[in-house]
Amino acid sequence: MKSVTNLLLAMSLFALTACAQTNKKNSERMNNKTLVAYFSATGTTRQEATILAKAIQADLYEIKPEAEYTDADLDWQNDKSRSSAEMKDKNSRPAMKKDLKDADKYDIVFIGFPIWWYTAPTIINTFMDTYDMSGKTVYLFATSGGSTPDKALEQLRKQYPKVNFKTAKLVNGASEEELREWAAR
Ligand SMILES: Cc1cc2nc3c(=O)[nH]c(=O)nc-3n(C[C@H](O)[C@H](O)[C@H](O)COP(=O)(O)O)c2cc1C
Repeated sequence: MKSVTNLLLAMSLFALTACAQTNKKNSERMNNKTLVAYFSATGTTRQEATILAKAIQADLYEIKPEAEYTDADLDWQNDKSRSSAEMKDKNSRPAMKKDLKDADKYDIVFIGFPIWWYTAPTIINTFMDTYDMSGKTVYLFATSGGSTPDKALEQLRKQYPKVNFKTAKLVNGASEEELREWAAR
């Protein structure tokens, strides 16, 4: 009889410890500060970034160029347009408004952008150079006419080796539920 009581006691203790550990993990996750930062020239990425931030209750920050992109700037068929010139120059760092407060407090950062010439616009480099993301967990998301953000992920990993880049998701028309599921995974 005594051994049965001991066994029951041990099992209860095990269950209690497991429960405490799960609670600790959950509260650690909740204490992690999450940011959704995005650049959007014509509003498509903004829409998805806004949905994502709401779905995961993260802070939302828009990466704003000092000089907004005009339609002429975005003309990819003109190889002299501003976007063409920037994307041809790997060192281009279009000036951005630097008004993100307490960037250090974020552990997890989602970075969104439109795909330009199969990769991330170079203003994303300006953002990465301005706010040191070393050691932070970063997820990429993008909108496009069909290209995936795979090349952007590969290039950014090479350019910023101290950043813990995880995955990159194409979010064209993604719903709140889809974005929440992706972020939860
Ligand atoms: C300069 C430029 C280059 C683009 N290059 C690509 C591309 O390589 N592949 C693609 O699928 N879409 C490309 N697009 C389309 C955009 O990625 C797409 O319209 C995006 O959703 C726009 O997002 P935004 O409204 O947030 O700026 C390009 C658009 C521009 C303006």
